[in-house]
Amino acid sequence: MQYNFDEIISRKNTRSVKYDLRTEIFGKSDVLPMWVADMDFRTPDVIIEAIKQRLDHEILGYSIRDDAYDNALINWLERRHQWNIQKEWIAFAPGIVPGFNLAVMAFTEPGDGIIVQPPVYFPFFGAVKDHQRQLMLNPLIRQNGNYFMDYDNLEQCCRDGARMLILCNPHNPVGRAWTPEELKRMGDICLKYNVLIISDEIHADLVNRGYKHTVLAGLSPGIAALTITMVAASKTFNLAGLGTASVIASNPELLEGYNRMLNAVHVGMGNIFGNVATEAAYNKGEPWLEQLLDYIDGNVQFLMSYQQRLQPWVNYEAPEATYMAWLNFSKLGLDDESLNSFIIHEAGLGLNAGIQFGNGGEGFMRINLACPRATLRKALDQLEKALYINF
Ligand SMILES: Cc1ncc(COP(=O)(O)O)c(C=O)c1O
Repeated sequence: MQYNFDEIISRKNTRSVKYDLRTEIFGKSDVLPMWVADMDFRTPDVIIEAIKQRLDHEILGYSIRDDAYDNALINWLERRHQWNIQKEWIAFAPGIVPGFNLAVMAFTEPGDGIIVQPPVYFPFFGAVKDHQRQLMLNPLIRQNGNYFMDYDNLEQCCRDGARMLILCNPHNPVGRAWTPEELKRMGDICLKYNVLIISDEIHADLVNRGYKHTVLAGLSPGIAALTITMVAASKTFNLAGLGTASVIASNPELLEGYNRMLNAVHVGMGNIFGNVATEAAYNKGEPWLEQLLDYIDGNVQFLMSYQQRLQPWVNYEAPEATYMAWLNFSKLGLDDESLNSFIIHEAGLGLNAGIQFGNGGEGFMRINLACPRATLRKALDQLEKALYINF
């Protein structure tokens, strides 16, 4: 079946965070919203059908995730990522962000050091600070526009007593699909110092053409024993509103510790539609995903072909993974407040300010490419015009 990703579907007045919070977030109701990480594409028909079918029963009582759910996840991970997991390794999370917060609560104490590698998905900082843990920063190294981990500083953080590392794999917002060598080197350092790793792999399925996702826990039994992996169909299939994710740990102590915390706060039930949708996505969503990846690749190519027109002011690389691009505006010489204001008021765009993602985000903006190409073209045209008029 052919899906039409070019179709522009209005999301206004659908209680959409991206569209219906524009005034609150940007102070303007008409910015073109290219920020929060969901897609402007219709959720695949196979998922919508599965939800409708369940809805037709018309009784929405407490529900369980049974073997069919676990098997769908197990088969997906084997097929897409060559990672063989067992049913006994799987737990539930009502979202990845709740999942890593629960893991922080389960495995660390107030005052414990937790490593994050900025610029990175900003709820990582909250997961450390909101629970009175100590943030230990291992900023990524930027070289020729690309990003790498700082292994020496990572080892120093471990030596200084870090208890946990929260990894973004692939890395949002810089778009890195970490290689097996990079992950192994990082994992071996954590292993040496017995530092637990939360591997947030929500973007695993959204690796761009020419790159491959590496499951951290698949690299060695030692690394697997100290890793809790978190995955979801939510980003892949545009189901973020359904609050459903999976937590995977082959080490029973980690899984039990996580489940204890999940049960202590009574959020393990999940919701019927999240369960049904995730199962359908993993069982039937692959053809849609393949076409989506081609379409996003087309958007990445379009963005790259546009770069000439934004020179010398905006610089960027094609993301290896995620449908986000990380735009460098530092040549404009603006401070972050002025840059934000320029993007909102002159370019009419709603983007994520780079500084939200911590150290190294200064002078950057994150743009969401999961939209019809015409929308992306409109956004870039608005940006080009604003640059032309103002600089
Ligand atoms: C790295 C990363 N983790 C987690 C999430 C959100 O996860 P959830 O909605 O399942 O809490 C996002 C969303 O953008 C993300 O980029």
